[in-house]
Parts: sequence; structure tokens; C-alpha cells
Amino acid sequence: MSAVGSPHWSPVAWRAHAAAQQPAWPDAAALERVLATLREWPPLVFASEARRLRAALGEVAQGRAFLLQAGDCAESFDDVSAESLHERLKLVLQMAIVLTYGAGVHVVKVGRIAGQYAKPRSSPTEVVDGAEIQSFRGPMVNSGIATAEARVPDPERLVLGYQRAAITLDLLRGFATGGFADLGRVHTWNREFVASSPVGRRYEGLADEIHRALRFMRACGVDVERDARFRSVELWTSHEALLLDFEEALTRRDPESGQWYDGSAHLLWIGERTRAVDGAHVAFLAGVANPIGVKLGPSASVDDVLGLCERLDPERSPGRLTLIARMGARQVRERLPALVNAVRAAGFPVVWACDPMHGNTALAGDGRKTRHFDDVLGELEGFFDVCRAASVWPGGIHVELTAGDVTECLGGGDDVRPEDLGLRYTTTCDPRLNGRQSLDLAFRVAERLRG
Ligand code: PEP
Ligand code: CO
Repeated sequence: MSAVGSPHWSPVAWRAHAAAQQPAWPDAAALERVLATLREWPPLVFASEARRLRAALGEVAQGRAFLLQAGDCAESFDDVSAESLHERLKLVLQMAIVLTYGAGVHVVKVGRIAGQYAKPRSSPTEVVDGAEIQSFRGPMVNSGIATAEARVPDPERLVLGYQRAAITLDLLRGFATGGFADLGRVHTWNREFVASSPVGRRYEGLADEIHRALRFMRACGVDVERDARFRSVELWTSHEALLLDFEEALTRRDPESGQWYDGSAHLLWIGERTRAVDGAHVAFLAGVANPIGVKLGPSASVDDVLGLCERLDPERSPGRLTLIARMGARQVRERLPALVNAVRAAGFPVVWACDPMHGNTALAGDGRKTRHFDDVLGELEGFFDVCRAASVWPGGIHVELTAGDVTECLGGGDDVRPEDLGLRYTTTCDPRLNGRQSLDLAFRVAERLRG
């Protein structure tokens, strides 16, 4: 039976289960005060919006749309300027137009944005200058500064996270309705990318085709510059639902449907480290009616995945569940086919997406975490091949990126080399594709989808 709508489920249901990856808050009373505040404050997003995203993802599940989920590994509290958001949105739109043309279907755009402030860690502590201190768990928990004091979890950061998310959402909504970018302008930006470098020029043919398609539409009388359908820049929000105290405090019953919705974001996902079927994260998200995702790493078994589907989408409702495979380029062809086939045979209408980042993290010579563009592409290639062999729609991609000119991932058209990593390595957590690597990726995926 579905936990969504069950009279036996409530936002505290997760408390009866083991919750992995929760911070050791030092002061329970201080935490409770903060949570009481958050319970009073309005949800950041509304049930009706989450329902609309769920319907859009239902289209993806049925092969009639494609999902682009993208953004920072961990957003920074210092990165809420209009300019920065404008750049991030611009990049996602540039990628989306290319993917729309390649896939021949609408692209549903979901940001890792307005709430991606908490991180699971492989180890609860790390050693810095000989001293063992708590690991950085994202700005909503503690500071990135590497001192014992700065790493003590501070519940006031939950309030700061809510406020940063609210500011970001306010800007996003403004851009969405303010005619920020019509299709023609986004295409012009892409042509600039294509003209500006040898790697861009590789995509001249595709960009020209898009150009001709737009010209054709204009000739048919479609006002590409002013038509509302081509000016909408709807970017849905998502983050990993890691801190269950926070998610619980923002969960409200929707008066219209009577169902519970987590009002912290439109889509919430469960990470690779917290996807135990009988764990607290699954128990929590099983009961909210938002669209949800689950990351699946190479250790995920058929039983694990069918158990998750049964628990999270017992009603087999398209758009409810997105499975995000992150197997790594070397394992995707071996590990993914059994999962895709079993889920299909059991009749779960999930969206299959590929996160080609988290299974491809490596340490560079200088000790920095990095990822090679070729591995990212290689995993995507494997994902598309596996889906094709199983006659399953490859529903989308999930990537960590930023619009800036960072040097965090190796390779790509501009060939970031190991010795370049130190130049502009600014991520607060995992290495992100930079703006040009991201466009490079979008064109490659578009070529692949068209083929
Ligand atoms: C992430 O998406 O930043 C992350 C930690 O992913 P995963 O749970 O797949 O390791
Ligand atoms: Co990450």
C-alpha cells in the first residue's frame, strides 16, 4: 500500500527508522527552537507546483520529454547574487535548447538549486594538520573552514539555508515571468559558443540546423521572440533530502488533495549513501506526494531497486519516481542492464536518468578531487546503449556544473589539464563541469539522441 495518502503516515514517520548521515547537533534544545521556527514559516514551493512537475516527469517516463537536472554539488551561501543566478539559468537554457533539438521533445529543466546545501560524507571526520575534525557537511550544517570549531554543526544554519533558498526562488520566479530569455536569444548565445573556439565549431552543423528551424518557425508566423511558450524559463528546484529534521519541518498537508508535500523543493532525491529500503530517508519520502529521485550506484542490486520501487511507487504512477544511475564509466554496461530490465518487467514506469559524475570521481596528483570529461561522456554513452538494448527511453541526465570558467574537471574541448586544476578550483564540494564543458556535453548528447 502507498504511504502517500495513508492515514498511518505522518512527517515524523521516519523517526522510527535508522537515519544515516545526520549531523551530530551539539544542542538539542537549540535545534528544536530552529525547527519550531521553520514549522511556522511558509513552504518554499507549493503542492500545485510539485504536481505540475510530477506531470511533466510523467511525460518523460513515457518517452515524450527529456529531463535535464543540473547545478552545483553544494550551493554556497555566498552565491545568491542576481548575476550568478542569471549565468546559471542562462547555461541551463543554452543546454536545454540544444537537447530539445537533439531529442525532438520538450526538455524538463530541474536545478540542483535553492536548497542543495547539505552533503553526505564517506567519513564523518577528516585529519587536517594532524588534528581530527568533523567533515564539512554543507553550509546548512557547518562551515567549510577546516578548524574544529568551524566544523561543529550549528542549527542556525538551517534558518540561513531556508532564507538563501527563498531568495534564490524569488529570483528564479522573477526570471521565469520577466521574459528573461526568448528562444532566439538563447540560440544567439549558443552561436557565440560555437563561433568562439575549435570545440564549438565542431557543432556548427547542429547549430545551423537549429537556426534554420527557428527561421522556419518565424516564416510560419510563430513569434519566437514574443510567444509566451518560447519565453518561459521554468526551472524547477531540487536537492538531496538529506537532513530529515529540516525536510520534516517544511512538510505540509495540501488542503486541496489532502496529501503531504515536502515544501522545501519541487523534487527531492535520496542519495546513494541513504537509500536503504528500511532506512529513514526512504520512510520519509515514501509518504510525501512530490516527485522523487533515488541515486543508484554500482552496488545496487535488483532486489534493492525493486524494493525501492515497491516502497516509493507502489501505485506505479508515471512521474513519481526517477531512478538516477551513477555507476561510473567502467561499470555502467555491466551493472545497469539487469536493473533496467527488472524494473521494466515489474511494470514500474520510472524515469531512467544518468548521473555521469559521481561514479567517475578520481584524485588528481595534487590530491584534489576531479573527473575526466571523457569518463563523463563514456558513462553517458554506456547509459544510452543500455537503454537502447532494453528498449527503454533514456529519460535524462543529471550533472554537476557551473556557468563560470572553473578548472575542476579535466579534459573537454578546452582540454583542462592536471596542472591547470589549481587555477580556478572553487567548488565547495565535488568538481563541476565549467560552462564550456557543459555546452560541449549538451551538444554531444544531442548528437547522440538524434542518432
Ligand atoms: C551528489 O549528488 O552530490 C551526491 C552526493 O551523489 P551520490 O549520492 O550519488 O553519491
Ligand atoms: Co556531488
